[in-house]
Amino acid sequence: MQDTNSSTVLFVSASARGDGSLSRTVGGEVLDALRAKHGEITVIERDLRSDLPFVSETWMTGAFTPEDQRSDAQNASLSTSLTLVDELKTADMVVIATPMYNFTIPASLKAWIDQVARAGLTFKYSESGPVGLLDDKPTIVVSASGGTELGGPIDFLTNYMSFILGFMGLKSAKHVQVNLTMADQDKALAGARAQIPEAIGA
Ligand SMILES: Cc1cc2nc3c(=O)[nH]c(=O)nc-3n(C[C@H](O)[C@H](O)[C@H](O)COP(=O)(O)O)c2cc1C
Repeated sequence: MQDTNSSTVLFVSASARGDGSLSRTVGGEVLDALRAKHGEITVIERDLRSDLPFVSETWMTGAFTPEDQRSDAQNASLSTSLTLVDELKTADMVVIATPMYNFTIPASLKAWIDQVARAGLTFKYSESGPVGLLDDKPTIVVSASGGTELGGPIDFLTNYMSFILGFMGLKSAKHVQVNLTMADQDKALAGARAQIPEAIGA
């Protein structure tokens, strides 16, 4: 039975690799650090190797149709999106582990973002611009790069992730970076591990 006092962590992982994935490995170490800090945690695993659907025309028309007027096809098209939004809302904390592919996030993670960034559910439009609807919660992005410096001028991953999470209300994202693994993997891992305590507020 689930411990009702335990914190729930959504763990989203985007690498195409399994055990060899450095972002997923360090993401797992962030979960361990959260366990050490908070005691028992419940983890919702969202492994993006499972091929999420892309946004379709039926999805789009459904998303902008009032819920009680949607067709069966529109409801079916939006069902994955609702599940993923629910996971994001249920979680007390979020850990996202992602590689850098072609200077930014992989398509699998972008597909997840397209499913969870929903007008009326995770953000809304207001006279002063868009407003995030998610309650802010501890959010950690673990990223891994080969030869491109995370935090450097051609890193289109880090700022984008901070922006899109903040757009939905998760304004406190911290980054743990497995940086430049092609140059020295051990150094990259040690550098990332050293960032975990601050990222989780230990
Ligand atoms: C399709 C693909 C594109 C990549 N593009 C980049 C890139 O633009 N910059 C970079 O530094 N590394 C790039 N890499 C290397 C990965 O970021 C690096 O191997 C990282 O460790 C992968 O994360 P993972 O270990 O969690 O799988 C790429 C790897 C793949 C497979």
